[in-house]
Amino acid sequence: MKIQIDKRDPLTQPQGVEPGYPQTAVRWPSQPLQKRPLTASELSGPQDVLRRLAPVRGDLAGHGAKRAIGQLIYLKARVVDEDGAPVPGAVVEIWHCNAAGKYIHPNDTHDAPVDPNFYGAARVVAGDGGLVELRTIKPAAYPVPDDPARWWRPPHVHFSVWGRVWLSRLVTQMFFPGEPLNETDAVLNAIRDPEARERCIARLAAPVKHPEQALVYEYQLVVRGRRATPGLP
Ligand SMILES: [Fe+2]
Repeated sequence: MKIQIDKRDPLTQPQGVEPGYPQTAVRWPSQPLQKRPLTASELSGPQDVLRRLAPVRGDLAGHGAKRAIGQLIYLKARVVDEDGAPVPGAVVEIWHCNAAGKYIHPNDTHDAPVDPNFYGAARVVAGDGGLVELRTIKPAAYPVPDDPARWWRPPHVHFSVWGRVWLSRLVTQMFFPGEPLNETDAVLNAIRDPEARERCIARLAAPVKHPEQALVYEYQLVVRGRRATPGLP
């Protein structure tokens, strides 16, 4: 007998297709999820996530004449569990658009320039403290395609976090503090609980003497528990 999975917490976790964001229709399951017993191998392995998902640069900004255009930032994200303990070894994939709001992706139809010095995606492994660091440029806002309302997404960074087994995965988006478009973004506001929404917004670190004069943003990815980072498509 199939058992339907309990609904996700509607306050802290978006429920699926969001009005005003057409792409969510193809990013969520169209049928209710079904629970089935997990096998030992699914729970404990494979342990080779890292072998199959090799790290790919932690630097999207380039250097010198090959530096991407935009505000240089350092992004420090910490992967933790529900108790705040670090999750070392988590594989973290990160991608975002360039400083003109253009992704390096064939489906991006936004009429904005590609930056030849901006790569757009990274895959890094959390260290002993659960920390992943990325040197990049701040992404821009971009208009949502295929929507007659022509609303704009605020600057954001996409994350996909893999745990030690294939079944443990979190896909979400990180937002920047103080962005006016955060207030009206259909994706961020799909999280009904303001406190849970706040957990999706990075913190601007206090200014420090930095060799590159970069702004530093800090963020926390909580992979499970009551205060888990909301999953976002
Ligand atoms: Fe995006």
